[in-house]
Amino acid sequence: MSLSRLWPYVRRHSKHLAISTAAILGASVAAIASPLLARAAVNAAIAGRVSELLLPATGIVALACVRGLLGFVGSVSARRLAELVALDLRVELYRKLQELSLSYIFREGAGRLVARVTSDVEEVKRLFAFGLAAFAGNTLLIILSLAAMLSISPPLTGIVLAVLAPLAPIVKRLAGRIRRGFRRARRIYANMSSTLREIVVGMASLRGVSAEEYAEARFRRDNDEYARTMIEVERLRALALPTLSAVTLGSLLAVYWAGGLAVASGQLTVGDVVAFAMYATMLSWPVSSLGLLVTFIETARAAASRVFEVLDAKPAVSEKPGAIPLRVQRGEVRFENVWFSYDGKRWVLKGLNLTVKPGELVAITGPPGSGKTTLAFLAIRLFDPQRGRVLIDGVDVRDVTLDSLRRQVAVVHQDVYLFPDTIRNNIAYAKPGASDEEVVRAAKLARIHDFIVSLPRGYDTPVGERGVTLSGGQRQRIALARALLADPKIIFLDDTTSEVDAETERAIMDALTKHFRGRTVIVVTQRPSVMALADRVVVVRDGRVVKEVARRR
Ligand SMILES: Nc1ncnc2c1ncn2[C@@H]1O[C@H](COP(=O)(O)OP(=O)(O)OP(=O)(O)O)[C@@H](O)[C@H]1O
Ligand SMILES: [Mg+2]
Repeated sequence: MSLSRLWPYVRRHSKHLAISTAAILGASVAAIASPLLARAAVNAAIAGRVSELLLPATGIVALACVRGLLGFVGSVSARRLAELVALDLRVELYRKLQELSLSYIFREGAGRLVARVTSDVEEVKRLFAFGLAAFAGNTLLIILSLAAMLSISPPLTGIVLAVLAPLAPIVKRLAGRIRRGFRRARRIYANMSSTLREIVVGMASLRGVSAEEYAEARFRRDNDEYARTMIEVERLRALALPTLSAVTLGSLLAVYWAGGLAVASGQLTVGDVVAFAMYATMLSWPVSSLGLLVTFIETARAAASRVFEVLDAKPAVSEKPGAIPLRVQRGEVRFENVWFSYDGKRWVLKGLNLTVKPGELVAITGPPGSGKTTLAFLAIRLFDPQRGRVLIDGVDVRDVTLDSLRRQVAVVHQDVYLFPDTIRNNIAYAKPGASDEEVVRAAKLARIHDFIVSLPRGYDTPVGERGVTLSGGQRQRIALARALLADPKIIFLDDTTSEVDAETERAIMDALTKHFRGRTVIVVTQRPSVMALADRVVVVRDGRVVKEVARRR
């Protein structure tokens, strides 16, 4: 089923498909013709008709050249087709992932989704690059060589098949064991790389904790098991070749013996037997490799169905047809009897009501898991509430375009993400085409400018894996600068100054309230010092607002 769904992707590149199929089939036909020429040559030689030798001999060489050429053309276009299909799939997956909601990504796990875009697509690609062409070529080779054998001698064909038949289950078993071994190895490998990722990413926090030993033990165990499984797989694969030769030799033995008898009784010529032996050799290879090819196709089908699972997923949030751009004038945010659940089982918000007035600085506080971050997610419509509404200036956020909403309502998330890029680009990301002055202004507001210019390369300092290591507070302030750059009307800071020292935090809040007078600011915080700055403190517990304290400043 999933494989047929790949057809539209293949059809787009029908030229390459046609060329590769034609070339591979042509190569099979060329392969089938040469034993016939060999028969003519042998018979001519035995009869002493030397003049008739040249033609079939050159024919054999010419056919070999044609076969090589067609094989080359076929495999190049098959690989090109495969790359193009993989390219399209990756583009589509990437787009889809951007469109899908966070809830989908949380549920499926980022690592697994990355695997869909990378390794699953590779598996599908391999099918087009090698599997399908080989499958078609081998099938044709089997049919044609059987037909040729039958045309030379039906009884001899029967004998060859009788010899090959009992060996088929052996080959099948071997192929099955290799396949299972590969599957197991892949699973262990996936485990191992995810453990490795956890260890590398968590290195800093694991240090000196017994978790480090635990992780290492787990890695060691997977690593050992992977090596053992792969050694076993390689042993089986090494066994496959001699088994195959044994199969071929068994059938050849039958051909020479029975064929020899037929020549002695004048039923066949020596040329017939030579040609026949060539066909028998040709037959045994594709027959045994079909077993492995079936595995190939199965694997690709499983990978394709995983890819389509993502492509078929419905985004939790989608723009209404005819959605209008949001124009925030006053900056009021209202959560109206909002009920929300991530999984459809447990309510996270239970009829929450909260109105943040235009220009107000509201601090939201409450125990972990009470739903504070969820409020930010709903405000920029990463999710929609099951019941109730989220209104901005009285407009339901479901009625406006996502782009306009997210441009005017900025959320600085709890877990700061910085791109592996320069500090400047990390800030400017929020507003493509922002000038240097704008970037500097935002950085100053976020109280990170002085630190940035103290770095040897200033704003051009790269961050992330190959760049400077930033403290949690520095990262938070860069993320804040990014949010402020777009000059949003409504700012939602989700505990984003938790790792900033109290003094700097106070300076940031001052800057926000002074510079952003008229802007609405919602700050999730546990710090009394921040609450002291707010116009109002809202306590959220268990998905409801349980207490509101207005402050006079
Ligand atoms: N993506 C998700 N899928 C399922 N459940 C989630 C998801 N995100 C949060 N939750 C659950 O929703 C509840 C509220 O989470 P939320 O992140 O809003 O709390 P919070 O008040 O921000 O907590 P904290 O102070 O620790 O940041 C928690 O019980 C949490 O387990
Ligand atoms: Mg939170």
